[in-house]
Amino acid sequence: MASLFNEFRLKDVVLRNRIAVSPMCQYSSDNGFPNDWHFVHLGSRAVGGAGLVVVEATAVSPEGRISPADSGIYLDDHVQPFAKIAGFLKQHGACPGIQLAHAGRKASANKPWEGDNHIDSDKGGWDTIAPSAVAFGGNLTKVPRAMSVEDIARIQKAFIAAAKRALAAGFEWLELHLAHGYLAHEFYSPLANHRTDQYGGSFENRIRFLLETFTAVRKVWPERFPLTARLSVTDWIEGGVTVEESIELLRRLKSAGLDLVDVSQGFITPDISQVPWGPGFMIPTASRIRREAEIPTAVGWMISDPQQAEDAVRDQHADLVMLAREMLRDPYWPYHAALKLGDEKAASILPVQYARAVKAR
Ligand SMILES: Cc1cc2nc3c(=O)[nH]c(=O)nc-3n(C[C@H](O)[C@H](O)[C@H](O)COP(=O)(O)O)c2cc1C
Repeated sequence: MASLFNEFRLKDVVLRNRIAVSPMCQYSSDNGFPNDWHFVHLGSRAVGGAGLVVVEATAVSPEGRISPADSGIYLDDHVQPFAKIAGFLKQHGACPGIQLAHAGRKASANKPWEGDNHIDSDKGGWDTIAPSAVAFGGNLTKVPRAMSVEDIARIQKAFIAAAKRALAAGFEWLELHLAHGYLAHEFYSPLANHRTDQYGGSFENRIRFLLETFTAVRKVWPERFPLTARLSVTDWIEGGVTVEESIELLRRLKSAGLDLVDVSQGFITPDISQVPWGPGFMIPTASRIRREAEIPTAVGWMISDPQQAEDAVRDQHADLVMLAREMLRDPYWPYHAALKLGDEKAASILPVQYARAVKAR
């Protein structure tokens, strides 16, 4: 049997295989509420056989949404529609996961297919907050307000409340979004964080927001369910965060109760010219992090070949593979991967409603 189809236990959660659907914003919500689109989009990927399905970056507060159409979990009323989704994912054999996020200075933007740029104030844009009053650049020119210590405490409380709602909705896997140039990453990276107080400057100070927020969420998220984080482990450019620093940060997060890191990269600046794009290009870095930070690891980015995914898991470079765009192309990727890898369990990946008919082909 292919290693990709081995179960994976983390805390009390057992994933049926090593294949995860990476969080993907759908820009299809109204005031944060998920709807039938999310139900079908996420539900299809559970039916398609993934072991873990992680709901898109879901904002902990309204101003933390990337766009007005982002999903959110900042109201108690958000719990019920998320519960419908989490229940269906679980019923169809996938662990229901959700990513909690605050977009920081990248918030208040148009949907990608409507420009991906900051929305003008007179067209529904809102004031953004970040560690420092420095704009992202590129399409996102709005200068955020530098957060006060009170703002920091408010956002941390919002993460705690969001985690409690995620639990109430039936999610069993929580991922904090510490990546991709959003708020937590903005604190971590010297490229975005120019503060001179206890939240900026030294490594210790730049990781304070991340460690404090993580620790606060750990207190309300049950020990039986994985608490994970997505981290941009490198900014790729001079003066940004490095893999070495990230290994140290992950050791500390692990001591604070981090169960797994979803290794990601970049996006603290619009300049992506240094990123070594290519199939599975983050696998070597994930492997190093898994070894040196001694923590279970998920890896994504341009993984679409089943053999590459299989090798990453079999050779212990990562515990899970996170697939995003390939899962959009093919929600049945786990089934097709099993066929390609010659796995005898392939047909059993399909739901019972489909399996017999497909086998009879
Ligand atoms: C439509 C879309 C939406 C995304 N939204 C998120 C998100 O909500 N949170 C996140 O961490 N990454 C997000 N990403 C990044 C993916 O999770 C993934 O890391 C990236 O696409 C690379 O993986 P891939 O090569 O398999 O697509 C998104 C990517 C796409 C294509």
